Amino acid sequence: MMNMLFMLAAVCASILTFGRCSQNTIEPSCFFVEKNKPSSLCACSRLPNRTDTVVCCNINSLFIFHQGLACGDVEKFPTKHLYMYNYTIDKFDAGSSKWRNLETLSVTNGKFKRVVGQFSGSLNRVNFSGNSLTSIDESSFAKLPRLRLLDISHNNLTSLPDLPALEQRNVSLDISGNHYLECKNMLHLISLETFNNLHIANINETFCLAPRKSFHWFNSTDKVSWDQLIKRRSVEEKCPKGPNYQCNCSFYGMDLVQGQSPSYSIQVDCSGRHLTELPKQLPLNTIVLNVSNNNISSLQKLINDSSYSNIRDFIADNNNIESIKSLEGSHFIYTFRILSLKENRLKSIPIYLFSHVFDSRWDAKHVNLAGNRLNCDCSTAQSVKLWLMTNTAYIRDYSEILCDKGLGRVIDLDMTQVCIYQKDWTEYIYYIIAGEILLLILLVSKVSYDYCVFKTTGYLPWPASKMPKLPCDWVFES
Ligand SMILES: *[C@@H]1O[C@H](CO)[C@@H](O)[C@H](O)[C@H]1NC(C)=O
Ligand SMILES: *[C@@H]1O[C@H](CO)[C@@H](O)[C@H](O)[C@H]1NC(C)=O
Ligand SMILES: *[C@@H]1O[C@H](CO)[C@@H](O)[C@H](O)[C@H]1NC(C)=O
Ligand SMILES: *[C@@H]1O[C@H](CO)[C@@H](O)[C@H](O)[C@H]1NC(C)=O
Ligand SMILES: *[C@@H]1O[C@H](CO)[C@@H](O)[C@H](O)[C@H]1NC(C)=O
Ligand SMILES: *[C@@H]1O[C@H](CO)[C@@H](O)[C@H](O)[C@H]1NC(C)=O
Ligand SMILES: *[C@@H]1O[C@H](CO)[C@@H](O)[C@H](O)[C@H]1NC(C)=O
Ligand SMILES: *[C@@H]1O[C@H](CO)[C@@H](O)[C@H](O)[C@H]1NC(C)=O
Ligand SMILES: *[C@@H]1O[C@H](CO)[C@@H](O)[C@H](O)[C@H]1NC(C)=O
Ligand SMILES: *[C@@H]1O[C@H](CO)[C@@H](O)[C@H](O)[C@H]1NC(C)=O
Ligand SMILES: *[C@@H]1O[C@H](CO)[C@@H](O)[C@H](O)[C@H]1NC(C)=O
Repeated sequence: MMNMLFMLAAVCASILTFGRCSQNTIEPSCFFVEKNKPSSLCACSRLPNRTDTVVCCNINSLFIFHQGLACGDVEKFPTKHLYMYNYTIDKFDAGSSKWRNLETLSVTNGKFKRVVGQFSGSLNRVNFSGNSLTSIDESSFAKLPRLRLLDISHNNLTSLPDLPALEQRNVSLDISGNHYLECKNMLHLISLETFNNLHIANINETFCLAPRKSFHWFNSTDKVSWDQLIKRRSVEEKCPKGPNYQCNCSFYGMDLVQGQSPSYSIQVDCSGRHLTELPKQLPLNTIVLNVSNNNISSLQKLINDSSYSNIRDFIADNNNIESIKSLEGSHFIYTFRILSLKENRLKSIPIYLFSHVFDSRWDAKHVNLAGNRLNCDCSTAQSVKLWLMTNTAYIRDYSEILCDKGLGRVIDLDMTQVCIYQKDWTEYIYYIIAGEILLLILLVSKVSYDYCVFKTTGYLPWPASKMPKLPCDWVFES
């Protein structure tokens, strides 16, 4: 039984030599040391079958520590792997030259609270799991170019030490089971992970704490999982920003589709950022975009940019948008929930744009257009006004849509105010009547004149004489 244990340890240790060891490592235990105890007072023992491995147990004072390392011949023989269990001294000195030639240093299931100083040498595997660590000097691990595995799980850490430059190496890091880790201290790790060089072990038990107020991403919980942290990070990286502005991207909701991992939807607030155009790119799954109080005039990106394709709520109040005709036939116009364009420069409302939109969808849609000053003409007075009155459920601010040239509100618009061609027509009628009367008078006076000439001279003046004879002419001639 014991032999088997050592053999496994040996197998693992030989794997360690090549830098990796599976997670199922069976580590040397204190059995052997305990067994030797009656005959030896040394806290450390070299494994009989594995001469490069030393195990130390129950170190509760510096005296036992130094004596153990000395009688265990840790430095004398080429020791590569050192395991210490039940190390209960408050601090652990990383700067000691004793660790310089080690490949494995494992100080687990003890009670030490602090790691001080800086390691150097060829350590590639450090395990401080299951202690009471509350602090590790920031640079403790910074000078370990061969580090492949760092396990500081199940401690009481609030922040993480710097890791050595990862470059091309794969480093496995276990920080699970630290219940007071602060998220802001973990964010830099995520960018390392995206380069595929950092493997986070036990992701499911890896959490960090986010102060409710400053961390606006997940409001319902203080505990943020690694998974959530990564999503947040990728959203933050893609959150629109420019030299002079930074939009606010935040969590909007979660879509749970059975059989799929939950997808998070994002809301982006770029209001009041002095933008003159829509942001270049939005984070994945942006469904709410608020670009109010800017100087935006074009809706082009909303129509054909793929990162805008999930937008349901588009709020662009107080901008310079002059037309929404381009939205015709767009994906957005069929899928939106809110289209808010209050206080823009819309000159007209192309009602055909919405004809199948309001009819064909069962779910509520809202369009806000208050404060726009339309170019009110007769068709506005007729069709747009009617359209507004019949779609008040969709256009709740229908009563605040205005006409330019001081014509007041569209819903108050009177046809007689703007339908000029009707007034024209009635005036024209009077001209025709007046013209007709004038013509009649002329005709009557011409006939009277002809009659007068005929009476005195006996013949008809031109052109009456050239006209074919009419029955009434016989009256005159007879
Ligand atoms: C190491 O252990 C194996 C099996 O347990 C045994 O056969 C071998 O003799 C041991 N070698 C030494 C040097 O103790
Ligand atoms: C840890 O060591 C102390 C003495 O140093 C001992 O009293 C205690 O029982 C040990 N704990 C374990 C779990 O071995
Ligand atoms: C670190 O030590 C703990 C306790 O001995 C062990 O459970 C864990 O597997 C070790 N970590 C690694 C990565 O081997
Ligand atoms: C862990 O740290 C927190 C805050 O830093 C502290 O409140 C708590 O008592 C510590 N727990 C242990 C077991 O040391
Ligand atoms: C790191 O790990 C990844 C995946 O596990 C692997 O594709 C890559 O080749 C590794 N890189 C190095 C330098 O070992
Ligand atoms: C982590 O949790 C997910 C879902 O809860 C599960 O599918 C996965 O197997 C877990 N991973 C590990 C390493 O436990
Ligand atoms: C954030 O808080 C609001 C109201 O308190 C709640 O409706 C919403 O679901 C919370 N968000 C998350 C991600 O839990
Ligand atoms: C971004 O959102 C946070 C949290 O909602 C808020 O405190 C902060 O003022 C916002 N920043 C800007 C520039 O709007
Ligand atoms: C829009 O631009 C004008 C000048 O071009 C500027 O005066 C105004 O403040 C800008 N408005 C916003 C909301 O940025
Ligand atoms: C959009 O932003 C403006 C300005 O910050 C704010 O007043 C308004 O409430 C926001 N609208 C929505 C729907 O979030
Ligand atoms: C979107 O339309 C604009 C103007 O028509 C064009 O310049 C741009 O290339 C289009 N973008 C995409 C992704 O099609």
